[in-house]
Amino acid sequence: MFRMEAIDSRVALFCFALAVLIPVLRANIAEFDEVWQKRAEQAKKGFLEAYHPNPEEVTVEFNKHVTRDPEGNSTRRSLRKSLGGPCLATNPIDRCWRCQPDWANNRKRLAECVLGFGRKTTGGKDGKFYVVTDPSDDDLLDPKPGTLRYGVIQPEPLWIIFARDMIIRLSQELLVTSNKTIDGRGFNVRIMKGAQITLQFVNNVIIHGLHIHDINPGNGGLIRDSVDHFGLRTRSDGDGISIFGSRNIWIDHISMSHCYDGLIDAIEASTAITISNCHFTNHNEVMLFGGSDSYSDDTKMQITVAFNHFGQGLVQRMPRCRYGFIHVVNNDYTHWLMYAIGGSQHPTILSQGNRFIAPPNAACKEVTKRDYAEESEWKSWAWRSENDLLMNGAFFVQSGSPIKNLNKKDVIKAKPGTFVTRLTRFAGALNCEVNKPC
Ligand SMILES: *[C@@H]1O[C@H](CO)[C@@H](O)[C@H](O)[C@H]1NC(C)=O
Ligand SMILES: *[C@@H]1O[C@H](CO)[C@@H](O)[C@H](O)[C@H]1NC(C)=O
Repeated sequence: MFRMEAIDSRVALFCFALAVLIPVLRANIAEFDEVWQKRAEQAKKGFLEAYHPNPEEVTVEFNKHVTRDPEGNSTRRSLRKSLGGPCLATNPIDRCWRCQPDWANNRKRLAECVLGFGRKTTGGKDGKFYVVTDPSDDDLLDPKPGTLRYGVIQPEPLWIIFARDMIIRLSQELLVTSNKTIDGRGFNVRIMKGAQITLQFVNNVIIHGLHIHDINPGNGGLIRDSVDHFGLRTRSDGDGISIFGSRNIWIDHISMSHCYDGLIDAIEASTAITISNCHFTNHNEVMLFGGSDSYSDDTKMQITVAFNHFGQGLVQRMPRCRYGFIHVVNNDYTHWLMYAIGGSQHPTILSQGNRFIAPPNAACKEVTKRDYAEESEWKSWAWRSENDLLMNGAFFVQSGSPIKNLNKKDVIKAKPGTFVTRLTRFAGALNCEVNKPC
């Protein structure tokens, strides 16, 4: 009874919110009540603390790890991908935890492995394990214990794992709270044919080892976003993963395709993010970093995109950046139909040690795109390419001057693009089996 009244008043407020809170609607929050206001304020404070005043240092540190990796100088190509061959970890993030037969007893080791701008992410390391046993998502206000939704709204840190192979069709967006790891290792876990994963005004989340595909907008409605709060949401975008006002996020070994909007979007004061070892396919607008020309605070957005495979059927935005400092390093771009990396509003883009294979279409050989501005404007944006391997006529149009602190003699350079096939060999969700090296 009490609940029904509460809901009625919220519906009334919803109409009010539609009329007066237009900017807030972009956050999918229909009713920007004091709980959300407090979260937004804390997130803004966290954003200013999480960004690094000298982002070049983080890029050099990343490159140092790759260059010093003991297997790093091998270019062997005849590696068996899974069955039969020895377990191989071909980049320093993977080597930190993979290929140990007892990985399943030591899952939290993963939290020590992240590199790049998301390097402080620990997810649910300090919490208990929570096992998802129930793939259903029927009750958005009182999710059943055992469901993924029940786990992600708990207030304490949690390391969320799965009991078996499962398909989870989210009936509305999944609002993940701070200090969580969603760890799909050991089973084939698919988030598909439903709504998106949303990280909104949160801190410290790891998402690892999932298949996320065929994601659609959700209509919104009343959704519980924590144990002691629920509220009205407007329609969700239909991204694979939507990062909004959040920091210390690590997305690793995810296979993604076919979402309605972006595969991964990071907007409105999101920073300290690493996206690594993912396999992206069959999608138009792959990643958007910075969603609005008017949101210049995003100059403090810092994101590492590393060891990913941008594969078949991708069209554009790998990523498309506004403001911010984006380190795009050691990725394999084997397909794009329009362009790979684009942006506006003078983002800094440091492209290092990637392999860019241009499509056959002679009009689409350029890696970069800045159509949104005149050359007189973009020529001062720092978009630098170092050690990239450009194939099949691909070309990267650089602009701006070399990034400060990176042209000194003793700075460790990125691993060259010739190593990328090896570094990204195991991109995407892995088929880890318990009691076997993964
Ligand atoms: C790999 O080769 C580079 C350049 O020759 C060298 O500086 C680096 O120390 C080598 N790394 C390893 C782990 O052998
Ligand atoms: C997340 O964990 C940190 C460290 O334990 C803690 O300080 C912080 O309050 C937690 N955040 C939330 C939102 O619970």
